[in-house]
Amino acid sequence: MNIGLLGGSFDPFHKGHESLVNGALRSGIVDVVILIPSARNPFKKGRSVTAAPYRYYMVKNAVDADLKKDKVFVSDIEFTYSGTSFTLTTIKEISKPSYIRTFLKANGIKSSDAETPHSFFWITGSDVLPTFEKWREADKILEMAGLLVASRPGDGVDVDEQITRLRGVFGNRSDIRVFDIKGVEAASSDIRTEHDYVKVSDTVIDFIRTHDLYRDDNVLDLVSDETCEQFYENAIKLYRYLGEKRLLHTLNVGLLSLRYASVYDRTLCDRALIAGELHDCAKELDEALQREMATEHSGDVFTEKKLLHSPAGAVFANQEFGVTDPGILDAITYHTTGRGGMSLLDKIVYLADKLEPSRTYADLTRERELAVTDIDAALRLCVGSTTKKLLSRGQDVHPLTLDFMNDIGICE
Ligand SMILES: [Fe+2]
Ligand SMILES: [Fe+2]
Repeated sequence: MNIGLLGGSFDPFHKGHESLVNGALRSGIVDVVILIPSARNPFKKGRSVTAAPYRYYMVKNAVDADLKKDKVFVSDIEFTYSGTSFTLTTIKEISKPSYIRTFLKANGIKSSDAETPHSFFWITGSDVLPTFEKWREADKILEMAGLLVASRPGDGVDVDEQITRLRGVFGNRSDIRVFDIKGVEAASSDIRTEHDYVKVSDTVIDFIRTHDLYRDDNVLDLVSDETCEQFYENAIKLYRYLGEKRLLHTLNVGLLSLRYASVYDRTLCDRALIAGELHDCAKELDEALQREMATEHSGDVFTEKKLLHSPAGAVFANQEFGVTDPGILDAITYHTTGRGGMSLLDKIVYLADKLEPSRTYADLTRERELAVTDIDAALRLCVGSTTKKLLSRGQDVHPLTLDFMNDIGICE
């Protein structure tokens, strides 16, 4: 098969990307297109990048809803290796026979077509041609893949001249082909900053709104470089351990915890981000393992199945994510039950878990308003409704939660 590869940060995935994909397929040069959201983009450093799992699932949801399911796929290959995602590394990894065969079959390509060898084409816009030789290991990229160049009317690049020039640099065997595209031209940065969502699909708009992405105030500006990097790296690692819904939930809790910390005590921002991000890190581990970790951590304090992941999370955050800060580990431990004498960090994570933007279990408008003005009042509302639910189902309220309720002034 001829396989088109379209890498990018897709922050957000927009109609310009869609027209690249559709144009490449229409050209007949490639049979399928694989989208590869970057995990660590070498050219986009800093805090304005949206954490990788958001971008991966945004693309996946958009492809599932809006693009040809039998011809357009999304690969998480860049989550599987460490280090920066350079084009050559990505092509090397994705073209490994064992990977690509399994990937294509998993996406519904019949076995005989999935068999190697395949030809790979890196899809790109014509604007990269004048400087392509400056790409890291450009010669090796062209040894492993062709270039499939989108040419747009009026884009100011003389494509034929550039291809002749590049053949002069890399030799005549370089496989550089062109396809024409019309349609939408869009810049992700404009979409992010101006919130002009005309150039993104309804699926993507829905995703952005559900997770409250692209806010004008970037809370990541409030943490140190090191913590920000840690947040991004943890997010990539969490992808191994959590499914889509829970992973996005736990990232949302991290960012909301940071936002709450910025309101109540800015010195807690870094720790709130990491505690929130990791609060559910153990929730999809094997139950027996969770129980073992919970017992190791707290004896028989947490025995109920749905509570195990809190102390187990503290153990896992320490072992797998290298967290040693006792305050962060406590916030993870008590995020389900609360406890007497909750620290501000404990309260922040507890509340963010209940109120992160994708939560829709009830109308939370009042709770969300209170959360940024009077944290204890917000907690009283949240804890009150949770315990009411438990009692109505005939379940017991955990002794730690009773202590917590007493502390914040809720009488049973
Ligand atoms: Fe949890
Ligand atoms: Fe949670």
